[in-house]
Amino acid sequence: MKISRFKSGLAPTLGAALMCATVLSGPVAAQDTAIGPVVGPEINEARAALGRRLFFDKRLSGDAAIACATCHQPENGFADGLALSLAYPGSKGFRNTPTLINTALAENWFHDGRIGTNLNDVTRESITEDYMMNMDMRLMQERVKQDPVYVQMFADAGYGEPSNGSIRKAIPEYLNTLISHGSDFDEGTMSESAQRGQELFEGKAGCIDCHYGPRFTDDQAHNIGVPENPEIWSDPMRHMTYAAFASFMGVENYMNIRQDVGAQIIRHPADGSDIGKFNTPTLRELVYTAPYMHNGMFKNLSDVVAFYNAGGEDTPNLDERVRPLGLTFLEQQDLVAFLEALSGDPLTGPEYVWEDPIPTNYTAIENWREQTN
Ligand code: HEC
Ligand code: HEC
Repeated sequence: MKISRFKSGLAPTLGAALMCATVLSGPVAAQDTAIGPVVGPEINEARAALGRRLFFDKRLSGDAAIACATCHQPENGFADGLALSLAYPGSKGFRNTPTLINTALAENWFHDGRIGTNLNDVTRESITEDYMMNMDMRLMQERVKQDPVYVQMFADAGYGEPSNGSIRKAIPEYLNTLISHGSDFDEGTMSESAQRGQELFEGKAGCIDCHYGPRFTDDQAHNIGVPENPEIWSDPMRHMTYAAFASFMGVENYMNIRQDVGAQIIRHPADGSDIGKFNTPTLRELVYTAPYMHNGMFKNLSDVVAFYNAGGEDTPNLDERVRPLGLTFLEQQDLVAFLEALSGDPLTGPEYVWEDPIPTNYTAIENWREQTN
């Protein structure tokens, strides 16, 4: 179902969301809003295996120091356990590294939702962005072409000779394999506490207004009043990265603001009504991905639930559905138990992790700058 991105008021409850889906796009779309197991896309094994090696290969970054997996670590639910992310050596990040589990099914990407096309574009952005992997696509292609293992794997995958275009297809094919399964919620083995939590989630606490469908997200951006992370403004390395990003994104007054403006960078509404809006994240696999929110401001799920119970921080553009909830301490614990029941088997086996060493001891060809393909 595609409820238009900024008409969040269209889905005030699951029931109403289902009704909207029926009215707007017929009964088939309604399935997307119901909570239930996540169904992943079809996988091409050879392409996914290639993408898996690329994901774990540090040669995809400019100075060959970091791989996608440096920040998106399997044992941390493909996040990194940090409040604010690492970055290309010499800089530091200003956002929390999100999980990549189920990201193949998202409608837009990054905490502000700034990429609304596909994972091919997200992969390109991650590779070339100077504070991420700072890689020149032409150099990347030459590096990959020098490795006999890749030459074989690209051929096996039906891509022909290694190229940056097929690298940007193979990595998303690997991301297609990162799909949640085996949670107590999916298996019908939730504790009584978690079951009471589900009732609160869909009822009194109103979480389902924004967290619905198999991934528990509406794929839209809202301002829920998460406090700023002061470290972004006190650590010059993080601040510098943010200022460069904000300047590039056309954020007004970017040198003086001390706020992550979030989705405002997409449409730049003159009244600033998208300031502080961030994408609703999936609620799958949370037990592996603390700390939480776009800036890692909450260490654990009890803190998140306490935050919602208090009604969020009072800020302009605060979504009206974030309001004091009046949950007792026990009810808050039940809600946490439900959130925990949405985490399944860790994706740390060999089908998700490239375990063989990736030899990097080769001599680069001399004239790579002149290569034109
Ligand atoms: C230096 C750490 C780092 C590296 C390396 C990195 N990422 Fe990320 N990734 C992040 C952070 C931080 C974000 C969130 C950025 C934002 O919201 O502005 C992110 C966001 C994403 C998202 C969007 C997820 C979502 O649900 O919105 C995808 C997909 C992704 N990265 C894939 C990759 C791939 C593929 C690579 C390797 C080509 C990679 N990342 C390399 C830190 C990293
Ligand atoms: C108005 C829509 C809305 C409602 C209602 C809502 N959420 Fe959220 N939720 C969001 C958004 C948006 C974020 C991301 C905010 C950010 O990154 O700053 C979020 C983030 C979260 C996170 C952090 C996930 C992560 O990986 O960082 C959890 C956990 C969560 N919500 C649980 C809940 C629970 C429990 C409730 C009900 C008490 C609830 N939400 C109600 C929109 C909503």
